[in-house]
Amino acid sequence: MSKQTDVVVAGGGGFIGGHLVGELLAQGKTVRSIDIKPPHEWYQLHQDAENVVADLSLLDNARAGVQEARQVYMLAADMGGMGFIENNKAACMMSVLTSTHMLQAAHEAGVERYFYSSSACVYAADKQTDPNVTALKEQDAYPAQPEDGYGWEKLFSERMCRHYAEDYGFTTRVARYHNVYGPHGTWTGGREKAPAAVCRKVAEAVVSGDHRIDIWGDGQQSRSFMYIDDCLHGTQMIMHADSGVPVNLGSSELVTINQLVDIVEQIAGIRCERTYQLDAPQGVRGRNSDNDLIREIYGWEPSIPLLDGLEKTYAWVYDQVKRSHQ
Ligand code: NAD
Ligand code: GDD
Repeated sequence: MSKQTDVVVAGGGGFIGGHLVGELLAQGKTVRSIDIKPPHEWYQLHQDAENVVADLSLLDNARAGVQEARQVYMLAADMGGMGFIENNKAACMMSVLTSTHMLQAAHEAGVERYFYSSSACVYAADKQTDPNVTALKEQDAYPAQPEDGYGWEKLFSERMCRHYAEDYGFTTRVARYHNVYGPHGTWTGGREKAPAAVCRKVAEAVVSGDHRIDIWGDGQQSRSFMYIDDCLHGTQMIMHADSGVPVNLGSSELVTINQLVDIVEQIAGIRCERTYQLDAPQGVRGRNSDNDLIREIYGWEPSIPLLDGLEKTYAWVYDQVKRSHQ
């Protein structure tokens, strides 16, 4: 791993990483994509990238991974939707080793720019108790009361980026992603988030002819969901900008989970009988992205309508479901 590369994508075998590697290659960049998973488990394996299997929580691997690199997108984390993060708090917090060693190694190696993928899970729980939620502004992360486990790791690691910038003059950039969805993401197995999970359940109803589906919670909890193309655009925009302040990167199109299901049913052309599982993992009651700051700094915000993004996501998930039934 000693040859020069424009960009390192840590977590390149994952959902957002796989899309980002593809986009950077299409722009003519040289890319080193690193993930802990064996290659056959990568969501997208781009042959034109330098694909490396390594555990970046180990400092030596992080150092080797960023060697001769100009920029680093740090997307590696042990994470998932509510079903995973509510039951794996210790595992989520262990990603602090990956976040710390990657930041340390990138700084030591003289990397020019470093991007860290933080999360809306850094926001204080007491600001997310109502489905008709007031959208979250960046300052709502403090006083700190983030999502237990996963959110604490994200808040600590984004703050470390700030101190590397302040103390060492290292150029760090932080985006707080709000629930990102799209094709080539986790759609089954326990780590999937609501958009992919609902697409899978509705697709399975279509394929099996049994139109009964389970929904976690009462369906009245609310979220906003950002399509992957907006995420890719915003991520690169934030990486290359002058501002180093953590900024929301999310859609402000607020829907309840029931409305999310309505849209997927509309796309699939069926109506399902819903059973609400009130003891399933639910997370916060309501969450939306306040986009004043991103508009103010960048004159842009995610805008792909949920219906448009879900049409593409449903088509992809439907294909996976069909294949798994063959
Ligand atoms: P993902 O799980 O699909 O991808 C993360 C990748 O990191 C996985 O492929 C995993 O194998 C890899 N990884 C984990 N530990 C590693 C290690 N020690 N060394 C090397 N690779 C390791 O997740 P994603 O949806 O693509 O998310 C990317 C980043 O964005 C993560 O940091 C995540 O916390 C953050 N984020 C995502 C969302 C979302 O809705 N997708 C929301 C908020 C924040
Ligand atoms: N995952 C999932 N699966 N969620 C479901 C389902 C289902 O089948 N049915 C209903 N839900 C509900 C959950 O109970 C929750 O209230 C809501 O849909 C959203 O769940 P997720 O998409 O799993 O997670 P989240 O929005 O609470 O948090 C996610 O987004 C954060 C960023 O905004 C997580 O992926 C975090 O890791 C991420 O940082």
